Order: sequence, then structure tokens, then C-alpha cells
Amino acid sequence: MDVENANCKVRVSQCTDMEVIPIKRPLKITHEITGLEKLVEELHKVFSNERVNVQEVQSLMAGYKSDPKDWKKYAKFDRFRYTRNLVDSGNGAFNIMVLCWGPGHASAIHDHADSHCFMKLLHGSLEEVRYDWPSTVEPEVRRVQKNNNVQPCCCSGSDKEIVDKMADLDMSCQNDRCPNFGRKIDEYRNGENDKCNEEDGLDFEQMEEIGRTKLEVNDVCYINDALGLHRMENPSHVDSAVSLHLYCPPFDSCRVFDARTGKPTQVKVTFWSVNGKKVKKVIAANEIVDSQ
Ligand code: SIN
Repeated sequence: MDVENANCKVRVSQCTDMEVIPIKRPLKITHEITGLEKLVEELHKVFSNERVNVQEVQSLMAGYKSDPKDWKKYAKFDRFRYTRNLVDSGNGAFNIMVLCWGPGHASAIHDHADSHCFMKLLHGSLEEVRYDWPSTVEPEVRRVQKNNNVQPCCCSGSDKEIVDKMADLDMSCQNDRCPNFGRKIDEYRNGENDKCNEEDGLDFEQMEEIGRTKLEVNDVCYINDALGLHRMENPSHVDSAVSLHLYCPPFDSCRVFDARTGKPTQVKVTFWSVNGKKVKKVIAANEIVDSQ
């Protein structure tokens, strides 16, 4: 089973046999959805099933064509940072929100707390920058995949684990999707081991950028912890941007990472407004169920 078929009703680490294959583009649009309200209604229907494929959710989000009159009541901006505005808390199975980005606003490099993250651009443009996990931090999904012997790869796990793993793998990485496929352990140790600087030690490791994607209006993208970490940025100095994010299962906190050292910090996620109403002080995601 690949990512597209993973069941996004459960945490990523509970998706059995998930292979880390990025989603194919262009996305299939199975049917057009008129209005954000209708999209939310369709999502409720889909999420009432026990299994919900990543692809199903992506197709639904792609089927909605952004119209500002649908989402302007949620589009509340702050001068200093991007805002998170809750649209619907999805009966606890997912939550969907409008994020508002002023010129130059960006998120920190973050993980997705073992949840699935879908994003659609509603207005302006945004850049997604992806990073590999620092070798000092192992996400739950990679721990589980390792225990289940899924796609052994030198790109996952700590450096000691990688070297042990490669030794087990007849001295070379066996994952044919990996840039180090077939690379011998000696090359890995002596050569450009770009993930690990022994002199600096593993505690301070510059985070490695693994990709950049520019998102334009109506583009949909997906990420989970098995695919890496990311941050979003509004590259414009003058224009704002608005995006729609769906997380399943919803989460209250995630980790943000220092790009220079790879050090993680656990942070609570908050909302700037709920159902189109600005909250008096930013509200933590775990306070939402009662306040809606
Ligand atoms: C968030 O939900 O606050 C993070 C937005 C992002 O994906 O950068």
C-alpha cells in the first residue's frame, strides 16, 4: 500500500505497510464541489466511514474551486504572523482551517504529530520547503516502519542505526527510491556523509532541505511525518496568501525545529478565530471541542 491508499482516519504510524511514495500529480478530480460549505459536508460524509484514503481526501479538496466569498469570513489577518482560523472540527475525526499569511509570513519547520496534513491554496501563492528529519530525532512512524522492516533505507534512523542497517543490507542501501541506493557502507562512512558531521557531534546538525514546491491557487499538497518535515512561506513582499488546511486526526501540539541545529521544541497549536469569530485571546486547539 502506498501513501495514496493509506487510511487517514488513523495516525500515520498505524497505517499498516505504508510505503513512502509521494503523491502523484496532477491530482484526479472526481467531481466538482460548489462552495466551501459543501466541501466540509462531503468531508463529514467521507470521514463517517471507517477507512478514508489519502487520495479520497485529496480529490475532494481538489474538486473545490476557491471562491473568496466562501472563505472571506474566516480570513482574519494579523500584522505580525500567520493566523489559524478554525472552520470545522470534523466530529473529532479531522479539523479544517483557513490560514492567513501576510507578506513575508512563514511557519517554523515543524512535524505533523503523526497525523496526515492536506493543504489547498485559496489565494496568492506560497512556497513549501521540505526537510529531512534530523538524525537525532526519530518520528514514531519511522520507528514502527523499522520494526516492521518496511523499505529499509539509509535516509531514516540515526547514523548509528543507518550504519548497522546498511551492514545488515549487504553493505548498501536497498531502497531504490533513495539517493544513496546501492551506495556501499565504506563510501557512506568515508565519503560525503552529508547528514552527519562527527566533529560537531550529532547534537548540532544543520537541517537538510530536500525539496521546494511553489503552490498556486487551487493546488493541493499532502505531507506526513514519514515524508519529512516542512515549513510554508509567503514569498511575496506585498501580497497576502490564504490556504486551507485539513489535519486528521486533529492534534493539539507538534514539534518545531531549529534549522541550524535540528533541535526540536514541543509547541501547542492555537486558533486566532473559531467559526469566523475572533477569539479574545488565542485559543489552544485542545480547548476547541467545548467552545464550538
Ligand atoms: C499550521 O497548521 O499552523 C502549520 C501550517 C504549515 O503547514 O506551515
